[in-house]
Amino acid sequence: MSDHILEMKNIVKEFPGVRALDNVSFQVKPGEIHALVGENGAGKSTLIKVLSGVHPNGSYQGQIHVDGQEQRFLHIKDSENVGIAVIYQELGLVPQMSVVENLFLGAEKGRAYRIDWDVANTEALKYLKELRLDVSPKALIRNLGIGKQQLVEIAKALAKKARILVLDEPTAALNEQDSANLLSILRELRDRGVTCIYISHKLGEVLEIADTVTVLRDGKTIGTRDMHGPERLDEAGIVSLMVGRELTERFPRVEHTPGEVVLQVRDWSVQDPENSEKRIVDNVSFDVRKGEILGVAGLMGAGRTELMMSLFGAYGKRLSGTMLLNGQQLNIRSPLDAIRAGLAYVTEDRKGKGLVLGMDVRENTSLAALKYLSRFSIINRLEEIRRAEEYVKSLRIKTPSIEQKVKNLSGGNQQKVVLGKWMLTNPKVLILDEPTRGIDIGAKFEIYNIMNDLVEKGVCIVMISSELPEVLGMSDRVIVIHQGRLNGELHWSEATQEKTMLLATGGTEK
Ligand SMILES: Nc1ncnc2c1ncn2[C@@H]1O[C@H](COP(=O)(O)OP(=O)(O)OP(=O)(O)O)[C@@H](O)[C@H]1O
Ligand SMILES: [Mg+2]
Repeated sequence: MSDHILEMKNIVKEFPGVRALDNVSFQVKPGEIHALVGENGAGKSTLIKVLSGVHPNGSYQGQIHVDGQEQRFLHIKDSENVGIAVIYQELGLVPQMSVVENLFLGAEKGRAYRIDWDVANTEALKYLKELRLDVSPKALIRNLGIGKQQLVEIAKALAKKARILVLDEPTAALNEQDSANLLSILRELRDRGVTCIYISHKLGEVLEIADTVTVLRDGKTIGTRDMHGPERLDEAGIVSLMVGRELTERFPRVEHTPGEVVLQVRDWSVQDPENSEKRIVDNVSFDVRKGEILGVAGLMGAGRTELMMSLFGAYGKRLSGTMLLNGQQLNIRSPLDAIRAGLAYVTEDRKGKGLVLGMDVRENTSLAALKYLSRFSIINRLEEIRRAEEYVKSLRIKTPSIEQKVKNLSGGNQQKVVLGKWMLTNPKVLILDEPTRGIDIGAKFEIYNIMNDLVEKGVCIVMISSELPEVLGMSDRVIVIHQGRLNGELHWSEATQEKTMLLATGGTEK
């Protein structure tokens, strides 16, 4: 008898031009939280898709054993039947349906077409309560915040009697509080005997929660470590296994010499679309100078994204305010106006707004820049190809070619394509909203270097980030937003975690 609940042996999975998994072995003990880490494109999500039957038996080599029994999953249903539930990088809920409908979707209580909604509601309440999720089973998913949606996904897994729960970057889009809540729920589930496989780029969380860590690199298993034993890894240890080298420096700080004011925003106010009485952005004024990185800090919901999106012509109704670019007043009514004026915006929501998934890397990187490339209204193919290749190389986008469909890239590599796309527009002002979310630690460093290069070339960068170390590590100046208002500004040399948090929570500097 094996003492592993799950064993994946010698898994090989190939896609055209890519060996995504190269003889991977992965063993999980019952009742542990097992973290699976690795750089973007290392093969984590692919391994999970092999496990769940998304990539069916026959499309890969190697074996899967659950409770010592060999399994040949052909469909997701097959893996669910032995108690495996996966929460994918993209949530799988139906937004227009209610919580209870989502919970029992495909596993309806009662006979087909005759769902007993009373029973379903009672059961839904039971699972919601277990997860301390205070929502009505009848609430629509689209009205719940992302943190709650995540918990509904877990409730759904519990409703299916999952014994092995797999979470692929569950906290990538969660705020700190929702993340902490999720982690504590995972611990409770573990204590009740649920086994958990946890994929994350947030190594702090991994250190906090994992009993065991397995590292993948380039489709190979690099090692598995017991986090309670003498081989326990610290963050630097995990990183060096992940990237195969020591990574001593996290932020390549360069002293920029900011020049003249490029963007000037005065008295900017925006109506809250949910509540016309309220201002979601309230009388904000700030400047951005040539050749600097301006960090925008604040808590989740403070209005940072709304501020920047409204400047870009992509959000809300402006109540007051002016915006000047190089001294010229701008009148931006749409993102197209903004792009024409020389602004570029990399959104936090890369799937929704940033990328055309059905197009290939080349088409995506040049999409926003088409009008620059097609001066005589013919797209300059060679130029397009040259630029796309340049970006693939400098951002180290892992793809067999620039002709690859973006939807086939790993999550982090999709993010790099978005960045490449906007950098190609040669903007005067580049707005980056959570630029390194879901990006591994090595690639983050590359993105920071590219930001520095752009700034050297005279671009000014505005960076919104919830990762305080990133804001403090990269910005020349930080403005802090609290409840839609600007609550202070700090030069990088004086900006500490404490000072920034104080301003972000509405405090004032003495
Ligand atoms: N359907 C597919 N078709 C072609 N290539 C694919 C497909 N799915 C994954 N790949 C490739 O397999 C490799 C592994 O991707 P995978 O999504 O498993 O990475 P990951 O470790 O989850 O990365 P991330 O941290 O960015 O999510 C990548 O090179 C990716 O481009
Ligand atoms: Mg992935």
